[in-house]
Amino acid sequence: MDRIGQMERTIARLTSPGRGILAADESYPTITKRLSDHGIESTEENRRFYRSLLATTPGVEAYVSGIIFFEETLGQKTDEGVRIPEACDRQGIVPGIKVDKGLTELPGTDGEKITQGLDNLGDRLDGYLEQGALFTKWRNVYAITPSTPSRQALETNAEVLARYAAIAQSRGMVPIVEPEVLMDGDHDMARCAEVTEAAQGAVFEALRRHRVTLECMILKPNMVLPGKSQPRPSVEACAEATLKVLRRTVPAAVPSINFLSGGQTSEEATAHLNAMNRADGPRPWVLSFSYSRALQNPVQAAWQGDPANQGAAQKAFLKRARLNSLARNGQYEPAMEQESA
Ligand code: 13P
Repeated sequence: MDRIGQMERTIARLTSPGRGILAADESYPTITKRLSDHGIESTEENRRFYRSLLATTPGVEAYVSGIIFFEETLGQKTDEGVRIPEACDRQGIVPGIKVDKGLTELPGTDGEKITQGLDNLGDRLDGYLEQGALFTKWRNVYAITPSTPSRQALETNAEVLARYAAIAQSRGMVPIVEPEVLMDGDHDMARCAEVTEAAQGAVFEALRRHRVTLECMILKPNMVLPGKSQPRPSVEACAEATLKVLRRTVPAAVPSINFLSGGQTSEEATAHLNAMNRADGPRPWVLSFSYSRALQNPVQAAWQGDPANQGAAQKAFLKRARLNSLARNGQYEPAMEQESA
């Protein structure tokens, strides 16, 4: 199959009705932090067991179309000895891979960050393809302070994100483009909207400059919310503010927008997605999820690092995935949180 045909097939699988993406691609420091929050040690075996538990949850394929993994997982096997990407594929879940190499300081700015990992990216992608990954993710971050993000950070980050997307597409791999405006701070929702619009605006300009095929990519944005220390407006107000920015910045050619959860509770992330899928006005894209914390927190809490809790952990994952699947169709009700998994 040609490059575009391969990506169109991956997009069709990833955006199939009622489904969304699980981000299980935490780097070593991040997974160590997430697991230690639940008193679990981040050993290689624990990471293998846990990510294999996620990928092989019976029935989850009805709600999850793709899983983004960290490099280490592509080479690991389930308890049955099946390579984890292969186990996903057998369940109809598309395996993907986070390909950026994390954040470093952007010199010339006041402590702002840039994402690294472009050197030899094409060669690394060839290896990931061989291991079964069909799509990729790259994350940039933008912190809101009275003086940031700077124009330099907006433009440089956009350039790097677009170069990544162009390289991924040159290998026939769908890029998930993730410009994350962080929730930390005491700014209001209007400021988050302004920064999110500026960040996404610069990203789409750069994507055009690098001739990225918009039909063969997925945008993974933050939702528009006030800073963490501020009171939360209504679910509908956040949904409206987020949609307003997306309508201004994201061309209708982009097939799907899969949100990150960014530190929202599981219930908030589900409710916000639901409200967007119920809102009036144009929504030319699929609006779905690509959550890490909002999907995995309850799973880690149920697992506790004990193999005997595998069933309970998978039940927790299935419940969260099902509720987000309903939210992707605008059919979620908060009362459903009380139902058993
Ligand atoms: P959160 O949903 O926890 O924000 O993570 C999404 C993600 O993949 C960040 O890159």
